[in-house]
Amino acid sequence: MKIGVAKESAAGEKRVALTPDAVKKLSGKGFEIQIEEGAGLAAHFTDENYHAAGAVIVEHKTALSAGIVVRVRKPDLEEVKALANDSIHISLTETCGDDEVLSAMRKKNVTILSMERIPRISRAQSMDALSSQSNIAGYRAVIDAAAHYGRFLPLMMTSAGSAKPARVVILGVGVAGLQAIATARRLGADVYAYDIRPETKEQIESLGAKAIVLDVGESGSGEGGYAKELSDEAKARQQAALADELSKAHVIITTAMIPCRPAPTLITEAVVERMREGSVIVDLAAATGGNCPLTEADKVVTKHGVILIGHTNYPSMMPSDSSAFYAGNITNLLNIMVDTTDGELVLKNLDEDEITEAMQVRAES
Ligand code: NAI
Repeated sequence: MKIGVAKESAAGEKRVALTPDAVKKLSGKGFEIQIEEGAGLAAHFTDENYHAAGAVIVEHKTALSAGIVVRVRKPDLEEVKALANDSIHISLTETCGDDEVLSAMRKKNVTILSMERIPRISRAQSMDALSSQSNIAGYRAVIDAAAHYGRFLPLMMTSAGSAKPARVVILGVGVAGLQAIATARRLGADVYAYDIRPETKEQIESLGAKAIVLDVGESGSGEGGYAKELSDEAKARQQAALADELSKAHVIITTAMIPCRPAPTLITEAVVERMREGSVIVDLAAATGGNCPLTEADKVVTKHGVILIGHTNYPSMMPSDSSAFYAGNITNLLNIMVDTTDGELVLKNLDEDEITEAMQVRAES
């Protein structure tokens, strides 16, 4: 059974879907891996590393024409032409609705497995690419904030003077938020965190941060560990209640999201105006509109003296580890997709497993 790994074509994408370690595991299981020449270079994996792990180095079109193609991002329209009819394509699809690439893939009867749709159930935890990548984003966001902040994060006492610890606020305590709390704590900041789901309070405190508790009149707990959207009244109450806490912050890492909805506004322009000059906001929700209306996607801008960072692909800034985690997710997924019969790999019926069934992007979804 052939697996093709094509080089990523999306602008700025440095990750690769399989690392040499993952190739070794999959080859050992009986898969035949065809990897495009140079596919791993941006993540610091050479063709020699892949070859030594058992992969065959091929051209772009050959990698795309395999029976199973694994990638970080979905193909562009031109690449769809190279996909084989009736093949399987596994990647992040970055869409909640439909688009022309997905419908072009469907015209070729390609089974589209979206890594975003892996259900958040314990059996699928090792395949959960959204979590593995968000974890990296939470870490990297704090490192980025520290690099842009003109002061120390920890308490500093020197013979030349002392500095107070920075007050860091994390908004949204999901995967990225929890890692951001842990990272900011490790750097010695004074960390506060807030989430609309009340059950996060204990998690915040267990990481040594202080929970910001607000009464917005309704719970934001939704299904599957995700938040649900608040009523307009509760949103307004939340913004007002958060304003004082946020205006005292020196660094804000904001991660609040609701699946397939625009990101909620948590930091208003009025709050940014009140923040101290040189404060930093990293808006991880920039790709879906941002938790602050002043954020500009993929830009670093300064407004009212506050530095707003809107990078939408932090995992790609740590391409070796993010590729390794992603490749681990893909390997675990491929393992549940096949059986071995008489020494041969046989593809299972993807509709019969709750994980691969949920991942399929069908026409009506
Ligand atoms: P998650 O679903 O695990 O966490 C989001 C959290 O936001 C949840 O705990 C939820 O309860 C909370 N939330 C939702 N609405 C809220 C509100 N009104 N007030 C307070 N909290 C609220 O999501 P995850 O995986 O941690 O991702 C967080 C964000 O980071 C997403 O927008 C995701 O797209 C983004 N992301 C950005 C990356 C980047 O490079 N910029 C990379 C990876 C993820």
